Amino acid sequence: MTAPSIPVIAIDGPSASGKGTVAALVAQALGFHYLDSGAIYRVTAHAAQRAGLSLDDEAALAELARGLDLRFEGGEVFLDGEAVGDAIRTEEAGRAASKIAAMPVLRAALLERQRAFRQAPGLVTDGRDMGSVVFPDATVKIFLTASREARAQRRYKQLIEKGFDANLAALFQDLSERDARDAARAAAPLKQTADAALLDTTGLTISQAVERVLQGYRTASAA
Ligand code: DC
Repeated sequence: MTAPSIPVIAIDGPSASGKGTVAALVAQALGFHYLDSGAIYRVTAHAAQRAGLSLDDEAALAELARGLDLRFEGGEVFLDGEAVGDAIRTEEAGRAASKIAAMPVLRAALLERQRAFRQAPGLVTDGRDMGSVVFPDATVKIFLTASREARAQRRYKQLIEKGFDANLAALFQDLSERDARDAARAAAPLKQTADAALLDTTGLTISQAVERVLQGYRTASAA
């Protein structure tokens, strides 16, 4: 099977919209691979901080990104063989990821790494530019969102469940800033493209959202 004929379900949307949870469940239901592209940006920022690089040094960050020893396995993410899932899920790591993700040279350095995840029988991926830049020929493109209040609530619940400290008002503020930065940047900004279907999950359960994506995929593959 050649890469373009391998189906891709691209789910893009803002922070804490639930796209990661939905994407992983859709992948499980179809037996497809799953790529959390945000984790790649988070790991890159984490590796940069660990190496003492400035988050403003685009050339050095791109060089680091190209050589990153990054692996996903069993729901965990490894950097240089070390599990970093918890370290990259903090709000601070999210802010750092959002900052470096605005850099076009860095984004270009990560492009082929992301495309390599397109493996048979198919890929479900989530991020900001999966449908617009990384997999423009995706079988289905979904723009998954929810109200900012709902997203802040979900992120709050997620952090508390993981045993982290969280403050709802601060999370709301943080989400607003991150949305603004991800949407305003010149390189691959967060936006719903004309060929992406809008899925607002504010009033939906996770399984309802998963079913909507699966329906979209069934319709697209039957066409
Ligand atoms: O989805 P996330 O919150 O884990 O992503 C962390 C940051 O990485 C997000 O603020 C923007 C950036 N990102 C991106 O620019 N492009 C992607 N495809 C995925 C994430």
